[in-house]
Amino acid sequence: MRLPPGTSGLPLVGETLSFIGDIFTFIEKRTAAHGHVFRSHILGTPTVFISGPQVVEKWLDETLIQREGAFPAPIQELFGGPGILPLMDGAAHHARKKIVLAGFSREALATYLPVLQGLIEALLAKWAAQGPAKVLDDLKLLAIRGICTNVLGAGEAEIAQLVADYQFVFRAFTALPIKLPGTPFKKGLQARDQILATYRRFVEEHQKAPGSDGLSRILAAAAPDGTRITPAQAALELHHVVLAGYIVYAELAATLQQLAQTPALRQQAAAEVRAQSPRGPITPAQLRQMPFLLQMVNEIKRTTPNVPVSFGRARIAFELSGYDIPAGWNVMMAVVEHNFDGIFTEPRKFDPDRFSLERAEEKRHPHAFAPQGAGAMEGHKCAGYDYSTVFMQVFAVALLRDFEWELPPQDLSLRYSLIPPEQKSGLLVQLRKR
Ligand code: HEM
Repeated sequence: MRLPPGTSGLPLVGETLSFIGDIFTFIEKRTAAHGHVFRSHILGTPTVFISGPQVVEKWLDETLIQREGAFPAPIQELFGGPGILPLMDGAAHHARKKIVLAGFSREALATYLPVLQGLIEALLAKWAAQGPAKVLDDLKLLAIRGICTNVLGAGEAEIAQLVADYQFVFRAFTALPIKLPGTPFKKGLQARDQILATYRRFVEEHQKAPGSDGLSRILAAAAPDGTRITPAQAALELHHVVLAGYIVYAELAATLQQLAQTPALRQQAAAEVRAQSPRGPITPAQLRQMPFLLQMVNEIKRTTPNVPVSFGRARIAFELSGYDIPAGWNVMMAVVEHNFDGIFTEPRKFDPDRFSLERAEEKRHPHAFAPQGAGAMEGHKCAGYDYSTVFMQVFAVALLRDFEWELPPQDLSLRYSLIPPEQKSGLLVQLRKR
């Protein structure tokens, strides 16, 4: 057997402690030392980490890699069990994905856009009326408000309750998985139960009186064999979708930061906004007319550390890049490292022009650019890919239309112990209406 390079760490715990302490640096250091395929032992399971377009191509082969059983047990529990998209395989996954994607179709996104614009403009007006302030917490609220309004049609009181419950779930993700009364993990599980009960109630109400929000679309959609999603399945998917929707805040923070720090970027993006969408409702057609805006959003997605890994498990023993991967080992795609692969020119440099028509670096390989998972949308690629793009585009347009802002001196380095990593300063911003 030729196992990938790396180490199994200490008996029993393996390398779990350094992994949990900072997943991003853990992967970056070992990729630099060992290359695109390395092994470790974390959370009780021998694990291989992979990155790079060629390696990921093979990882996407469903006969080699399954999703079932790929989440560490505590994470699966916080998501509510095994019955969610990232842990499903084959026809069952295909059918569920088609149904969930009905909530994020092009037509659905067009109806979400005005709601997002309203939420964003209200927040920017609030910032402009105050002095310099830390904005990360507001961005978190904005992201969760966006997804809860768009998908659930939730009102302010319901959103406030969900936000309160999710605080416990987020805390539990980075806590030791001890289920004694009063521990952060136990509190996270209790909050999860409350959230799922809320979603089952939302499903019942939507079944009685459907609207045009994401949940109504998901409940109305049928799988290829004509079956529909059950209320319990819908509640689980909603829980995943809201957790995923929340992390868009890290991309919004990076948008604010990149535009403030790079005058040339701001000028070019602002010129496009002035030409295509100077005022009034921001429309999908306008967004399509702003290619530089999309280049910028793509480069922010590529360079902003957010979700560190996609999970998989070796269905059978197989060979990868000359190494033997034993059956049953976890095989994780290191998403952040993957997007810094040498297939890109100067991969660590922030350079939106790499996505221009002339350079089109993302086309150097079908899996070169995969900030939200690799492969096809009907596969395991992120269901919120276009939703997050639109959210970031509308945020940037609203900022560039009417505001000037600067970042007073502060520590902008990222705290990598958090997922997603956050600016240590809380992102202090001074925003003014132009
Ligand atoms: C920019 C923020 C986001 C990032 C970085 C991100 C990243 C990811 C990654 C890495 C995966 C795993 C792909 C794989 O297993 O191969 C994923 C899956 C998924 N994401 Fe996202 N995501 C984001 C936002 C969203 C949003 C806003 C939603 C919902 C609206 C969402 C819903 C999902 C779903 C449902 C899956 C599972 C897809 C499947 O297994 O078929 N994500 N995402």
